[in-house]
Amino acid sequence: MHIEQRQIYFDQVSAAAIAETYGTPTYVYEERRIRENFRRALAAFKKYYDDFRFFYAIKACNNLAIGHILRQEGAGIDAASVNEILLARELGLGGEEVMFSGNFLSDQDLRQGLESKVIFNLDDISLLPRLLEFGKPEVLSFRVNPGYGRSNVGEFVTNAGPRAKFGVHPDQVMPAYAMAKEAGIKRFGAHMMPGSCITDPDYFALITELLMDLIGRAGQELDIQFEFIDLGGGLGIPYQPGEEGLDIEAAAARIAEVFRKKVEEYRLSPPRLMMEPARYFVGDAGFLVGRIHAVKNSYTEILGTDIGMNTLARPAMYDAYHHIYVDGREGEPRRKIGVCGQICENTDYWARDRMLPESSAVGDLVVVDNAGAYGQVMSYQYNGRLRPAEVLVNGDRHTLIRERETFADLIRGVHVPAHLRKNTR
Ligand code: LLP
Repeated sequence: MHIEQRQIYFDQVSAAAIAETYGTPTYVYEERRIRENFRRALAAFKKYYDDFRFFYAIKACNNLAIGHILRQEGAGIDAASVNEILLARELGLGGEEVMFSGNFLSDQDLRQGLESKVIFNLDDISLLPRLLEFGKPEVLSFRVNPGYGRSNVGEFVTNAGPRAKFGVHPDQVMPAYAMAKEAGIKRFGAHMMPGSCITDPDYFALITELLMDLIGRAGQELDIQFEFIDLGGGLGIPYQPGEEGLDIEAAAARIAEVFRKKVEEYRLSPPRLMMEPARYFVGDAGFLVGRIHAVKNSYTEILGTDIGMNTLARPAMYDAYHHIYVDGREGEPRRKIGVCGQICENTDYWARDRMLPESSAVGDLVVVDNAGAYGQVMSYQYNGRLRPAEVLVNGDRHTLIRERETFADLIRGVHVPAHLRKNTR
């Protein structure tokens, strides 16, 4: 995204053209930015450890068009559910190009996961005997809770440590792999996902060390080798203006340094190194375009827009900051103004006291920054509001990649029993 003579552009397409063609609210993604993000990250990791691969955590933005971009770039898929395995299949990816990292899987999930021959990544030791009832996976990984996690989205997205619901407890790592070996499983991997949106390279070095110590000891004691070690996602992006981003080179260098040291220390035969980021690839390549429908002067000044907790849940859910631009007004004098959506909840007053252009007026377009990850996928239909459209931009081309929902979507699958249609009780 860039601003030229106060007009906002996504690549070479103006926000005005997007709004005119597709209406608002609409998610817009820049294809070039996604590819740049992926290539920058891959080059950094490959530079320090050649046997490296990214799996894209498709939960962050599950539009197949976006999935295809990352597949073309060489990513596998990290799937959180059987439906995400099916999304991967739509992309032509299956088997060991898909990592199944579901949480509290049902028997049906376990069965379907086995049938699709994806890499199983079990979140708890108790899942292994249940999985073995249905069959033996070719490759098995455990999601390890290394005892520590962190996040720039506060406590909300800290996925390891004592307060997290995820992963195998450090004391159970050895017994988990012992049980798997005992069951005749021959190929192993290991995984963790201790936190999301971290911009400190030292954090990645620390978690790598924690995981490698647990895995290294298990490998030595049980005499098993690990084909891959997956460090999860978590590569952060800056959301606040002026905030420092992640130095991806430094993160890759620190990770590879610790990784090599531990591989040597525990005499592992060098495993493939994997990560499964999402936010780093798509977060800053996606934007939400909305419109101001009212300017309210009450206790405070409020812009009433069609962007709210239903279209972008992060601010209401995590108190997350998303920068807001007003098309045609950037560069004009600013004052403190609030921004709300159309939902009948006060959590929908999602930006308070923002320094926004004081000339902002009804009809203006607002653009929310960094909306590409955990944006559209977390939108919902509350208050009878419909999920937004999604558009992909490349150069001066723009393509609809998901239709805006219609009223038919609101009542799809709903059945009213015949007796309720009568006018009597
Ligand atoms: N792998 C696993 C197993 C995950 O659960 C996640 C994200 C990722 C990879 C990708 O993480 P990333 O690279 O994007 O940090 N809704 C929250 C984020 C939740 C993260 C869930 N797991 C947000 O909007 O900040």
